[in-house]
Amino acid sequence: MATNKHGMDLLQDPSLNKSTAFTEAEKQALGIVGLVPDITESMDVQLNRVRMQLGHKTTDLERYIYLINLLDHDETLFYRTIMSEPAYFLPIVYDPTIGEACLKFGHIYRQTRGMYLSMTRRGKVKEVLRNWPQKDIRFICVTDAGRILGLGDLGANGAGIPIGKLQLYTACAGVPPQYLLPMYLDAGTNNEQYLQDPLYLGMRKTRPPTEELYSFVDEFVEAVQEVFPKCCIHFEDWTGVDAVHLLKRYRDKCCVYNDDVQGTAGITLAGMINAAKLKGTNLKDEKYLFLGAGSAAIGLADLLCSALVAHGMALEDAQSRVYMFDINGLLETTRKDLVDFQKPYAHKHAPTRDFVAAIESIKPTTIIGVSTVGGAFTQKVIEAMSRINERPVVLALSNPTEHAECTPEQAYTWSKGKAIYAAGVQFAPVHLNGQTFLPGQANNFYIFPAVGMAIFATQASRVSDEMFIEAAHGVADQVQPDLLKQGLLYPLQAEILETEIQTAARVAKLVFDSGLARVERPADMVSFIRRHVYKPGYPAEAGTATKAA
Ligand code: NAI
Repeated sequence: MATNKHGMDLLQDPSLNKSTAFTEAEKQALGIVGLVPDITESMDVQLNRVRMQLGHKTTDLERYIYLINLLDHDETLFYRTIMSEPAYFLPIVYDPTIGEACLKFGHIYRQTRGMYLSMTRRGKVKEVLRNWPQKDIRFICVTDAGRILGLGDLGANGAGIPIGKLQLYTACAGVPPQYLLPMYLDAGTNNEQYLQDPLYLGMRKTRPPTEELYSFVDEFVEAVQEVFPKCCIHFEDWTGVDAVHLLKRYRDKCCVYNDDVQGTAGITLAGMINAAKLKGTNLKDEKYLFLGAGSAAIGLADLLCSALVAHGMALEDAQSRVYMFDINGLLETTRKDLVDFQKPYAHKHAPTRDFVAAIESIKPTTIIGVSTVGGAFTQKVIEAMSRINERPVVLALSNPTEHAECTPEQAYTWSKGKAIYAAGVQFAPVHLNGQTFLPGQANNFYIFPAVGMAIFATQASRVSDEMFIEAAHGVADQVQPDLLKQGLLYPLQAEILETEIQTAARVAKLVFDSGLARVERPADMVSFIRRHVYKPGYPAEAGTATKAA
């Protein structure tokens, strides 16, 4: 892409800067002779230097800070780095390191990235959005940080989440970075510690009543339609209730989705599909008990039921196979504290606050931990599941790492090697009695970047649940049979880009079939997706600079 920028201006633009890789002709044409070392390095040499410098860092947080710094200077080299070894780099730029980075966000802050939209800008949201330099934005990932990972209300420290999340669109599925806009919507925080912290970067106010918040979000969503008409809004890490309600509020009116609800559901569904394959059963033969009944649980239960309905089951029958247990015990019909969207999963059952007793009475085949409570799947829980099931399915999805409901080692040991296990974070393989078990990571990054790529390529006008169900099948079908036998429910992260291209192609086909596409239908879906994939390489011509199309 040609640029008008020259000299220092150009070097200070991370999307144009090539650091030490400018050719002599480029140095002459761009007025940077003498402003950079007088050599021309290949990206491989640059990558070696990055790897060497990273090797000197002693913690993942330091590696995260280094990489964000690299992104601030040379976007292409940043993506080249993380795409060179996704299995190594994704846990550094995203989960679990991002949790720690968010907790310390105000303290490690160096340079602005994305946008900060405070509620004090009410009535002026359009003008604020117009300050963003790129005009064709296709994804805004927006959070009010009401619930960051399993860490609670982090206020402005949660701004790290949309930044990291959008990097995964590029790193995992090749969505070009110039179309992505991270956004922190500042509605205050109820986090006392941050309100007292002199380095806190947000409004020093407690959160407003829901109606006030929603009317501000209304203004934001409306402004996006006008300022960025091709944009899909990705809601991330709002509290469970806000997540579900805001999704319902906009999903039929514009192009929006919520990754905590739909992405989590998609990736967990992929795991359930493969767990059933391993057991030789069918999704409809399973019975599910959730620990946690928040946005992740509801999103998953709803999507699971939609998938069962697609397989010919009546909705009520599907819902009757899904039970939930939250901080106040089993969801059952006499409970008075349930919100509207939890009620379909409250069945007739005696009240109980004892999870093991609930397992013994309900006899689930699968337990799903989305409670944010580390260690909640105790030995008694796993043993109860193992008494009832030949192959108990245990999905311990809460994150970051110390919030996982149990570790794979615990699940395999306590079930005597019978459990089929996946977690929300990556755990190392487990060796037990001469067998090697491969715990998979039910990470949304297999799903939302692929769905995102499909939306980007097709310019989809809406995001449907069916798109996430299709993505779940797309991911599940790509696990090699020998790895599945070792308990791995998800594809290898080393091949994530290719996995997501294939998944995106399936979702794109569905977008066209559903009449939601705003571009012409291509003959071949996979090559159509490949044409849109960003490649982190510098263009060769002098006088032009980066930005793959
Ligand atoms: P949420 O805050 O909406 O819901 C948490 C739920 O857990 C509530 O229903 C609460 O009552 C329940 N709970 C809390 N303490 C409990 C206890 N001691 N016993 C039983 N239930 C308890 O949170 P959300 O959005 O549903 O996320 C939950 C967890 O799932 C988080 O840790 C999050 O990081 C994780 N998650 C994992 C994903 C993945 O692995 N792909 C994706 C999205 C979320």
